[in-house]
Amino acid sequence: MTKAKKGAIKLEFSNKYDREHSQYYYQKHREGIEPRLSHWRDVQLARKALKIAGNPELVLDLPCGAGRFWPVLAENPTRKVIGADNSADMVAVALEHCPKEIASRFTGITTSAFDIDLEASAVDSIFSMRLMHHIGKSEHRLAMLKEFHRVSRDTVIISLWVDGNYKSYKRKKSERKHPRGANQNRFVIPAKQIEQEFTQSGFKVLDYLDFIPYYAMWRVYVLRKA
Ligand SMILES: C[S@@+](CC[C@H](N)C(=O)[O-])C[C@H]1O[C@@H](n2cnc3c(N)ncnc32)[C@H](O)[C@@H]1O
Repeated sequence: MTKAKKGAIKLEFSNKYDREHSQYYYQKHREGIEPRLSHWRDVQLARKALKIAGNPELVLDLPCGAGRFWPVLAENPTRKVIGADNSADMVAVALEHCPKEIASRFTGITTSAFDIDLEASAVDSIFSMRLMHHIGKSEHRLAMLKEFHRVSRDTVIISLWVDGNYKSYKRKKSERKHPRGANQNRFVIPAKQIEQEFTQSGFKVLDYLDFIPYYAMWRVYVLRKA
């Protein structure tokens, strides 16, 4: 089967994850009440989403970041995980901190979500947390979703910021007052629009889970190839 075309899309924000930032990212969710609570809720949603996706055996965690979801991904004792990230430093930090008892089931690769270095239908599911909200252009989101469609055999679990809640209303108001212009690297995507983009890319929505319904912007969608 065909591999993705070269000359993949590059996002400005992707360059910041060097060794120092990767190490900082590893610590970030482990210190302080708020980050730990938020991580706890993220893990809860991830666990539910994996169940809805039918407990996939071979999962591509893209972007894996510092591997903060690896313990929940390892809860299925027969699951194997490919941790992938655009930043080689992130992958290295994730592998260094991977708990010994699960390490044999995890491998790491450095690759872009727009041009994944794997064959078509290489994995049962792609698990993609906290990347889509960095992608402001519809054409870029579609390119990534089409690449996910190529590489996943069955499902995709993806988190992003959606509208229709208190936080997105507040953000819109503040953006009107203080436009971020070219510096903006995180975006709220209207739920209706992203759902159309899922359909356009060949997915149907199995379900979605909200971080805090009607309050927070984070939503996790579970998609299946249509
Ligand atoms: C906000 S972090 C999220 C990491 C992890 N999923 C988590 O929730 O902890 C964003 C990650 O996306 C990675 N990244 C940025 N651009 C990427 C791209 N084009 N393809 C794959 N990964 C990318 C960064 O290196 C970084 O690790």
